[in-house]
Amino acid sequence: MTYQYLTIRRDGAVEHVTLNRPDVRNAFNEAVIAELSAWAASAREDEGLRVVVFGGAGKVFSAGADAEWMSRMAGYSQAENVADARAAASMFRAINALPCAVIGRIHGAALGGGSGLAAVCDIVVAAENTIFGFTETKLGILPAMISPFVLPKIGVSAARELFLTGMRFSAARAREIGLVHSVVAEEHLDDAVQRYVTELLSASPSGIAAAKALIPQVWGQRPETVADLTAQTIAAQRGSDEGREGLRAFLEKRSPAWVPK
Ligand code: COA
Repeated sequence: MTYQYLTIRRDGAVEHVTLNRPDVRNAFNEAVIAELSAWAASAREDEGLRVVVFGGAGKVFSAGADAEWMSRMAGYSQAENVADARAAASMFRAINALPCAVIGRIHGAALGGGSGLAAVCDIVVAAENTIFGFTETKLGILPAMISPFVLPKIGVSAARELFLTGMRFSAARAREIGLVHSVVAEEHLDDAVQRYVTELLSASPSGIAAAKALIPQVWGQRPETVADLTAQTIAAQRGSDEGREGLRAFLEKRSPAWVPK
């Protein structure tokens, strides 16, 4: 498939997806959302895909929702607005629920929905000079569609501060609140991303998918409520091909078959 606003580069089991609308700082409108949704649908079916790296072309990762699009939507009916917002929610959900690992490579700025995109990544690596912000209230709107993904990352307290003020904050603060995992000098961004890619390629693809699916099911639950789910999950994985191969490889002091040679 060809895209107008995404650049895709495949490197074995790793796909680099770059938002490519640098003139408007990779702001996304309905066309970008449609492309990201189509990409996520095909990624979901791609059994050879193990790691995705999301980045942005040009000066910044993403300036979030396209203000021109948001302002155009203001003239539409409530029903049209809801349909449009649902398409955005569905895109965030699709990326969030991909069975492979997703890394955010964040530089320059990640504002509004740009920070939302960071929140649907499993691992976020940011350049130290990146500016983050849930700036929507400064524009008279609010971070609604991204909130289900941002809240589990940053928690209620930081959300009350940052959603309400719309203030911009540093990469160091983003790491402190759980939105970002690693902060490095911009020139070391690719090396830091590559270290995570290497770690992920040495982990079992089905183990990654199962762990990723388990986390939201267990989060917020009482241990006794999820006792059966967790027992069923480990039992299924131990008996799976990769469960058997991983444990056998460890005992035989060799690399499991899924580790690239
Ligand atoms: N929607 C639409 N256009 C946007 C945009 C957005 N969210 N963010 C930036 N742009 C456009 C600017 O209007 C400008 O267009 P122009 O060249 O026609 O004047 C162009 O992108 C470059 O923006 P500029 O502000 O000059 O770039 P910068 O590199 O100095 O700063 C940002 C980059 C991202 C820090 C800055 O553009 C910004 O703060 N944008 C607003 C982000 C925001 O609040 N997003 C939340 C939306 S809900």
